[in-house]
Amino acid sequence: MSALAGKHIILGITGGIAAYKSAVLLRLLIKAGAEVQVVITPNGKQFITPVTLSALSGKPVISEFFTANTGEWHSHVDLGLWADAMVIAPATASSIGKMANGVADNMLITTYLSSKCPVFVAPAMDLDMMAHPSTTRNLELLRSYDNHIIEPAEGELASHLVGKGRMEEPEKIAEVLEAYFACPQPLKGLKAMVTAGPTYERIDPVRFIGNFSTGKMGYAIAESLRRQGADVVLVSGPTALPDPAGIRTVRVESACQMLEACRNEFDSSDIAVWTAAVADYAPAHPADSKIKREKAQFDSIDLVMNPDIAATFGKCRRDGQTLVGFALETDHGPENAARKLKAKNLDIVVLNSLSDPGAGFGTDTNKITIFDHLGHSAVFGLKSKAEVADDIVNYIAEYRNK
Ligand code: CTP
Repeated sequence: MSALAGKHIILGITGGIAAYKSAVLLRLLIKAGAEVQVVITPNGKQFITPVTLSALSGKPVISEFFTANTGEWHSHVDLGLWADAMVIAPATASSIGKMANGVADNMLITTYLSSKCPVFVAPAMDLDMMAHPSTTRNLELLRSYDNHIIEPAEGELASHLVGKGRMEEPEKIAEVLEAYFACPQPLKGLKAMVTAGPTYERIDPVRFIGNFSTGKMGYAIAESLRRQGADVVLVSGPTALPDPAGIRTVRVESACQMLEACRNEFDSSDIAVWTAAVADYAPAHPADSKIKREKAQFDSIDLVMNPDIAATFGKCRRDGQTLVGFALETDHGPENAARKLKAKNLDIVVLNSLSDPGAGFGTDTNKITIFDHLGHSAVFGLKSKAEVADDIVNYIAEYRNK
């Protein structure tokens, strides 16, 4: 049976020549057992008739906010909540721009803005429009909203020019949707918390002690946990990264604030992943006003030790919780990782060694070895942080089943 069987799908059609292919996509989704509601923009109707689409879907096509004769109102909010997925194919440059910027001037865009389901976008346009920085920026914005972009293919376009911009074939789009729903979600129903980023410890209002952590690894883990079905809260130190879509993000500055934020989340969490590079020490007496250079006595700063967040919660953990820490080491990696596993009462420790090229702070890649409390370990090659995050989360899911 197809993973699409019984799924509620909104098929959004905008005004591009590729709209004729949407009929094939609709047919494939219906054949796979999905219930499909077509929402078409006014310009979309210039390219394919609602009669064709309603015949194929078995439902009246929605285009306007009201049905002209009866005055019946179509609720974009109800429609957005009804859907398990929304696929916009073709998505023109104009509609992509409206989606990116919240220009809700037709039924399709209002439905998009109201929907809580995953959204798949299959752009279709001429190659120069596709390559324009405005399109690139708008697609980036959609990605940052966690929309799935189904990249257009290269080939001959309606303009007879050859290049990138042709809407992906309906069979491929249906495959992407099918794969999405076929993906198991082993962490559904569980709550996961993740600490991420550095902490800043104030010396005075303009200076701090911190470290080079960018938060990329922790954010990638939070996103992977969410993809696997967990309800995720991310407790983040100062980073330049936006709040990930679908994840409650609590922003903090210092180690003490991070500890307090974690206290609110830990008891109700089934999984805790400590990825934050917490500053080990903080100035003992942070100044309330900026310390002037002339008057400064910066030859030394008195420091106090910060709380160890992982160890604090390791002491008061309850049955059924899975605690995961990191060990970022320059020397004696496996020995230090094993020591931290015990000392912080963790189930799993992820070792990354700063001596491995491509691993550590600021890079987009990482190379890890995982050790667990049951004495097992696994070595992984150099991968993107998103792939490393998936490896860690898969390991957590398997560990919980042991
Ligand atoms: N950690 C934490 N709170 C701290 C320090 C560390 O929660 N104050 C967590 C980190 O998020 C990580 C693990 O503990 O998951 C190990 O962090 P690391 O900096 O490698 O170890 P430290 O305990 O600080 O030990 P050392 O600096 O001696 O290597």
